[in-house]
Amino acid sequence: MIVFNVNGKERRVDVSPDTPLLWVLREKLGLTGSKFGCGEGLCGACTVHVDGKPLRSCVTPVGDVQGKRVLTIEGIPENHPVKKAWLAQEVSQCGYCQPGQIMTAVALLEKKPKPTDADIDSAMSGNLCRCGTYGRIRRAIHAASGKSAPKGGKKS
Ligand code: FES
Ligand code: FES
Repeated sequence: MIVFNVNGKERRVDVSPDTPLLWVLREKLGLTGSKFGCGEGLCGACTVHVDGKPLRSCVTPVGDVQGKRVLTIEGIPENHPVKKAWLAQEVSQCGYCQPGQIMTAVALLEKKPKPTDADIDSAMSGNLCRCGTYGRIRRAIHAASGKSAPKGGKKS
């Protein structure tokens, strides 16, 4: 039995400890916001926070989060500045990568409340978007950080 906290609630799951955390979140706990992309830790679609740090849940065995705090996209309130900025900047296209993008952005802003473009590019570089929303993501992160987005940037 694996016991861990998900979005503020204690959860118990009877699965093998080597089951990927993403599988447990989606299949056992019904939290389908975290997405399966590559399954190899390369695209970021499955990003969640574990004890406050962003982590790829597709390559994290659930046994590794025993006793830890997991935060998923469902645990980020709708009025969170990052979610609000995402809507205001109309970041999403197909939307598939966006839960992972938001989780990485939230972690960045918690660590660095006023990130530079370079900070954003570096923090977000492992989150891929096939729809090419990178420019909007950057603007949304600046907006959420209380900075206005840089002017004259190419729209995407
Ligand atoms: S699905 Fe986890 S990093 Fe791609
Ligand atoms: S919005 Fe479609 S993959 Fe990113």
